Amino acid sequence: MDGSISPAKEAQGSKENSVSIVFSLPDIEGELPRVLEIFKGNQVNLHHIESRPSKRNNSDVEFFVSCDNKTGRLKESLDAVKKISKNFRLMSRETSEETVPWFPKKPSDLDKYANTILSYGSELDSDHPGFTDPVYRARRKEIADIAFSYKHGQEIPRVQYTEEELGTWRTIFNELTKLYPSHACKQFNHVFPLLRDKCGYNADNIPQLEDVSRFLQDCTGFRLRPVAGLLSSRDFLSGLAFRVFHSTQYIRHSSKPMYTPEPDVCHELLGHVPLFADPAFAQFSQEIGLASLGAPDEYIKKLATCYVFTVEFGLCMQDQDLKAYGAGLLSSFGELQYCLTDAAEKKTFDPAVTCDLKFPITSYQPLYFVANSFETAKEKMREYAKTIPRPFSVRYNPYTQSVEVIENKNQIINLTQAIKGDLTLLEETLSNIGGI
Ligand SMILES: [Fe+2]
Repeated sequence: MDGSISPAKEAQGSKENSVSIVFSLPDIEGELPRVLEIFKGNQVNLHHIESRPSKRNNSDVEFFVSCDNKTGRLKESLDAVKKISKNFRLMSRETSEETVPWFPKKPSDLDKYANTILSYGSELDSDHPGFTDPVYRARRKEIADIAFSYKHGQEIPRVQYTEEELGTWRTIFNELTKLYPSHACKQFNHVFPLLRDKCGYNADNIPQLEDVSRFLQDCTGFRLRPVAGLLSSRDFLSGLAFRVFHSTQYIRHSSKPMYTPEPDVCHELLGHVPLFADPAFAQFSQEIGLASLGAPDEYIKKLATCYVFTVEFGLCMQDQDLKAYGAGLLSSFGELQYCLTDAAEKKTFDPAVTCDLKFPITSYQPLYFVANSFETAKEKMREYAKTIPRPFSVRYNPYTQSVEVIENKNQIINLTQAIKGDLTLLEETLSNIGGI
């Protein structure tokens, strides 16, 4: 009975001839056969059965059953099943046709897919600067192996970077830090000195992911998790829902310090990390992650595109000046200068428009999206997320650091009561400080 959404156990019937229901039963032997007996007795054929642990009650199992609506006594069957089951729901056609993809509910669930990467350690494309360098490939694999055996909650093992690796970092660090005061957004420039003080950001040291992760946790609750290669968009985005950022730990090839065809530790530490220490940006990033949980594939693609045009290549307006906040810009000496010139087109960030655009991966972007603030960008993402067809809502619970799936009235009532409690606290505080 256990297991997440499972493959169809019976042949899938045509959608026009199907009615789908969801119900819960106690997780004890003999319960499901009782239900199957009802359908059999009423001569109703079944097209599809799935089971998964109930989200409402640990000792129950939830079933999704698709029945043939052209055979037997369907109404009698459904009435009988309703009587002996709990949480019986007749699904609309729209929702019954979609099988919600599995998604993590707590940060330790990220362990389940952490190693389902699209490329690994020493596997490089032929145009990668390290493709013909066996020493580099072996080193990449050595560092990627750290991520491969990493589990949630563990300390991130430290890497003793070599002199050659430090030289690569130094070149990039020295060039980029010249541009940050004039080209990076104010949130970035606020955090960067703190990273120098607390995490050893300087030209002669590649900061350790563990130290940086601890710093981010103190600022916004964001954590780094080492990753051995490229994750799928779905897996990568779902990490953001838990304020977990998957970070590479290996470094680009020393022959081309100012170029990398893929994320490396310089891109992560210089491009991404500073902004994850900003509360509003952290919330914006998490919003994209939450929107991705259980979303259909086509929407994952749209959300990943929004992510690229914001977290990777986003610009913002600050005091009438255009500044960069995207990690792909803040870690690229050339594009950081180019993106603020008139050579590239600029548009206001709008997820509904941004989500369908294409972007080049081997050249500078021809178009950048500008956010007025991270707060407004977050609100826009939230509005956009409402258009994603999901038969439930998700909410991050910061106390348990897990994601709650909200799909029934009782959960909404409980949530409302919790919010009422918070509002009472705010009223009291306001009263105490003489606000009312
Ligand atoms: Fe990135």
